[in-house]
Amino acid sequence: MRTILIVGNWKMNKTASEATVFMRDLLARVPAQPANLELVVAPPFTALESVRLVLGASSPIQLGAQDLFWEDHGAYTGEVSAPMLKGLGCRYVIVGHSERRTLFGERGDLIQKKIRAALKHGLRPILCIGETLAQRDNGTTDHVLTQQVHDGLSGLATEALATITIAYEPVWAIGTGKSATVEQAIAAHRTIRQVLATVASPAVADCTRILYGGSVTPQNIESLLASDQIDGALIGGACLQVESFATIATVASVARSTGV
Ligand code: 13P
Repeated sequence: MRTILIVGNWKMNKTASEATVFMRDLLARVPAQPANLELVVAPPFTALESVRLVLGASSPIQLGAQDLFWEDHGAYTGEVSAPMLKGLGCRYVIVGHSERRTLFGERGDLIQKKIRAALKHGLRPILCIGETLAQRDNGTTDHVLTQQVHDGLSGLATEALATITIAYEPVWAIGTGKSATVEQAIAAHRTIRQVLATVASPAVADCTRILYGGSVTPQNIESLLASDQIDGALIGGACLQVESFATIATVASVARSTGV
């Protein structure tokens, strides 16, 4: 069975000192030893160190970053590399988030370079993909998802592909309060898993976690996780309050225990 993964993407929120206060509070509220659940927070680069200090060595929460650059070091003003993130204790890194694609023009070839850099340094990439509302409306969702998986992952070694997580985040659901329905999410996840079977292998497709992201809340997380096609969630707005993120974590910690 795939372990549920809940990732909080803080985006550009919280200073280093705000992060310290938040994490102390959060640690006191999340399940201590979640059995079939991994919890990750992805703060801005500037707060990674303060979050790491609060988490300590044996925390139930792991550290992730929101982006990385593909070179290890050099004259790349403003960028942050995989070895730098490793050095700060990151285990996961989000790659190809729709905000990066839309606001910063990130394309598939560049996203694959970032994935390769993450893998080279033992970081686990979370590849974000998703269609716009116009694409959904004109019936090209499956085509867009297929293309984005191919762009991000084609040509990677099977062993590397086995460490990747996909986050399906329909662009129209991000920050809008309008989550995809469970049926829409399941259909997209099925498509993604089929594409993974061809890009990697059926075995890799079977063990790869596919998260849903886009207006996930404490109210809708349970119904999303009730499907065994949905292996967790990438959470934006609802991860910024201790109460809502801790509630989501608690719901997720028992989601698979009823055998659905
Ligand atoms: P919201 O949960 O705020 O819709 O954001 C989703 C997201 O973009 C997570 O990466």
